[in-house]
Amino acid sequence: MSHPTGAERNAHDDGDPTAAGACPVVSYPMQRQDPFHPPAEYEALRAQGPVVPATLSFAGGRPAWLVTRIKEAKEVLADTRFSSDSRLPGFPVRRTHSTLIRMDPPDHTRYRNMINHEFVGRRVADLRPVIEGLTDRLLDDIAGGPARSDLLPTLAMPLPSLVICHLLGVSYADHVFLQERTADALRATSTPEEIDEAVADLGRYMDRVVQSKLDAPGDDIISRLVTDHVKTGECAPEVAADLARLLLVAGHVTTVNMIGLGILTLLQHPEQLQELRADERLIGPAVNELLRHLTITPSLARVATEDVEVGGTLIRAGEGVMILLSSANRDEREFLAPDTFDIHRTERGNLALGWGPHLCLGAALARLELQIVISRTLRRFPSLRLAVDLDSIPFRHKVNIYGVHELPVVWDE
Ligand code: HEM
Repeated sequence: MSHPTGAERNAHDDGDPTAAGACPVVSYPMQRQDPFHPPAEYEALRAQGPVVPATLSFAGGRPAWLVTRIKEAKEVLADTRFSSDSRLPGFPVRRTHSTLIRMDPPDHTRYRNMINHEFVGRRVADLRPVIEGLTDRLLDDIAGGPARSDLLPTLAMPLPSLVICHLLGVSYADHVFLQERTADALRATSTPEEIDEAVADLGRYMDRVVQSKLDAPGDDIISRLVTDHVKTGECAPEVAADLARLLLVAGHVTTVNMIGLGILTLLQHPEQLQELRADERLIGPAVNELLRHLTITPSLARVATEDVEVGGTLIRAGEGVMILLSSANRDEREFLAPDTFDIHRTERGNLALGWGPHLCLGAALARLELQIVISRTLRRFPSLRLAVDLDSIPFRHKVNIYGVHELPVVWDE
């Protein structure tokens, strides 16, 4: 694919055919200048158009389209002519193939229907006491030590592991192994071989778990999956293991980093933090605003399977698309003062958890975990503050999912 000029590609001539064509093709990704904001260039990209041409620096300068505004980002994510299958030629990034997240309908729909009910409504709401108990145990351990802690290894990393191990019915004793291999599989600096090896290790682990649940089912997601769909011959044990591996991986690094970066963001906004401490009802909107403002999954990749027109630009079959969630979530057409962190914001919808058929399966669970862990941490440590200057906090600039590597905090005993 070579990029056409805006004039050649504008399906609906808007009277200014040179508008997009005059802009130089940008190189993606761009660097953040400020740890709490996406790259400053995104504002100009949104002004340039909803769909702009780019070259991908991590893929040897291969061309792809960037979707910059929220309306068109929703359109692309909801349109099944844009595929999630990373094996297709033209898919813009290297991703390991995976059941569900890298599938398209109708297969995607079939697998999603097997587990969707586990992550909605009462099923998730009923987990509240479990998550509160797990959070309190971690906070007790932190409070029992010196009045200084790095909240990444003591709170943010173990909590999502504990919750997902509980749901899947796998031993928490294995969580260090699971956590390390998950991190290896997702680290942007891992070589392709290292990623494949980590994914294979997790796959072998889950194969063993699926086999043990087939022999002796318990009260957990994997047991229900094998009883309802594997024993009936509807799905192979390997597929169940792959789904279980995805649940473990997809909900892990994301939630860890939302906890870390979320607490850090609140510490940078002491007035809103005080309001949150004073009024528990603000925690839902606050978590929603943290998700929007931080958008730790900055982009999603798709490839067009047919010619599709988006925002006046024709995207041809086989061309890759990067949907810039972190740009869409700062779109001035949708959000008032989009760069301001404001827990009282009234615009509720955002793309931090995706959109369309692949909308985060764990969205309700992630929100509940974040609400519980953030509100209980703030309540337990009323004098919580950073132990170092903000400049000394190591941010995750070189990894697919944004966040912090450490969160050293202190409090008054
Ligand atoms: C705050 C934490 C989280 C964030 C920011 C997040 C973000 C996302 C995003 C953006 C997608 C869409 C991917 C795409 O369209 O290609 C997604 C999908 C997914 N997420 Fe999450 N996620 C989080 C937590 C979780 C948790 C706790 C789980 C555990 C069950 C989970 C499981 C999944 C799964 C299985 C998918 C694939 C769904 C599908 O393809 O139908 N996520 N997530």
